[in-house]
Amino acid sequence: MPSTARLLECAVEAAKAAGQHALRNHRRRREVLRNFRHDVKLNLDVECQDRAEATIRRQFPKHSFLGEEGLADRNGAALEWVIDPIDGTVNFSHGLPMWCSSVAVRQGEQVLAGAVYAPMLDELYTAAIDRLARCNGRRLHVSDVSTLKRAMICTGLEKSRNPFAPPFQMLQRLHSGVQKCRVMGSAALDLCRVAQGHTDGYFESGIFLWDVAAAGLIVERAGGRADILRQKPDHRYCYVATNGLIHRALCRLLEPVL
Ligand code: IPD
Repeated sequence: MPSTARLLECAVEAAKAAGQHALRNHRRRREVLRNFRHDVKLNLDVECQDRAEATIRRQFPKHSFLGEEGLADRNGAALEWVIDPIDGTVNFSHGLPMWCSSVAVRQGEQVLAGAVYAPMLDELYTAAIDRLARCNGRRLHVSDVSTLKRAMICTGLEKSRNPFAPPFQMLQRLHSGVQKCRVMGSAALDLCRVAQGHTDGYFESGIFLWDVAAAGLIVERAGGRADILRQKPDHRYCYVATNGLIHRALCRLLEPVL
């Protein structure tokens, strides 16, 4: 088994390979592979996933992969790399800077190391099960906000529960209970903001494993808490992460609309 230091180094290299390819090709951000009602799949999503995978395969040719662009490549390996080459694809395609590349490595359900790289913000977030969370080398710590009425919570508008109607009930519920609710368009970065203590929590009713695998560990290693509230088909979760202090209160607030 490779050391977590080596796994983390590889996760960083792969996230940078994906993110830098996207940044270098920023002018091609509107090259669409497929349009959906509330989403878009870009040529660059696929190219960036290839970059990340190639980086990992050079070091660990026998490991398996699970990524947004192409599903499980399960070859029975003990370690599995979970990749989102561009998280916040819609932001990226519009030219907004809030997008990132996310790479995690897990053994079974346990994430061992993860990296989230936001090239336009020049931010690299890292953590491992035996290492604290960092951003560009600086230690991260979650906020000390202890009540929902002082808390800023990020959320996402789940893509496919009903693609024509945003989950208004959930938003209404969140909005009524917290200081501010934000929808910023990249779940992985939303979680890194929790780890950084700039926001206090994140919730989404149908988020994919590759959006949260690396950043969930980053929240935990910054002193916060991340939980899968419900598993759904196709690697999708009802998911919450907070600074820990408001965790139960946030879950209680959302329970009636889950
Ligand atoms: C999406 C973003 C968004 C979240 C969606 C995700 P993608 O990831 O993280 O914030 O609300 O549920 O699928 O498609 O840009 O990688």
